[in-house]
Amino acid sequence: MSRHFDDPTLVIASHNPGKVREIAALLAPFGAKVVSAGELNLEEPEETGTTFIANAELKARATAEASGLPALADDSGLVVTALGGDPGIYSARWAGPDKDFGLAMQKVEDGLQGKEDRTAHFACALSLCWPDDGQRVHLETFEGNVHGVLVWPPRGDKGFGYDPVFMADGDTITFGEMDQDKKHQISHRADAFRKLVDACFRN
Ligand code: IMP
Repeated sequence: MSRHFDDPTLVIASHNPGKVREIAALLAPFGAKVVSAGELNLEEPEETGTTFIANAELKARATAEASGLPALADDSGLVVTALGGDPGIYSARWAGPDKDFGLAMQKVEDGLQGKEDRTAHFACALSLCWPDDGQRVHLETFEGNVHGVLVWPPRGDKGFGYDPVFMADGDTITFGEMDQDKKHQISHRADAFRKLVDACFRN
């Protein structure tokens, strides 16, 4: 049985205003006031985990401990089957310091040369952490996925990151070509959020 969230305030463990806005909108119907780690001047912990879940949990825990308030963190990325799961938790880092996703997508494509399997999935881990008392925290963590194939060359400019090369199973357009409202219904983040909301936010 998951713990139900009925606190007045939730800290989003992110300094990315776009991500904070998106999460705040998704949780608006449940009444909690949402603040960001950026607004509270909290430091971003280093992502030292080796899985999406470990990274989401360490970010949620660090934010809950630093603020004394419940915190929600996410970690996500593109998992390419024929690359042994790369770029995975390194998805943002593959774009380099200039956040050049043209370069990151090219690196994925270079790795796929001579390989038949072009399947991949996006994964998103969401972790909600209550600080409880001092040393003890309580964590509820959920993972969502969307499966598909990688196309080349990249198509569409509506999304971000690896969206232009990812085509979800059953679709004929990439996430980069898709209306973002539709993407937000079928994405890995939507899948993880549905699980989180069903377990911790609905009455
Ligand atoms: P983080 O979870 O903020 O560390 O970001 C993970 C990285 O994964 C992002 O910078 C993107 O490169 C990639 N990524 C995560 N979700 C998506 C998505 O929905 N579309 C495209 N790329 C994504």
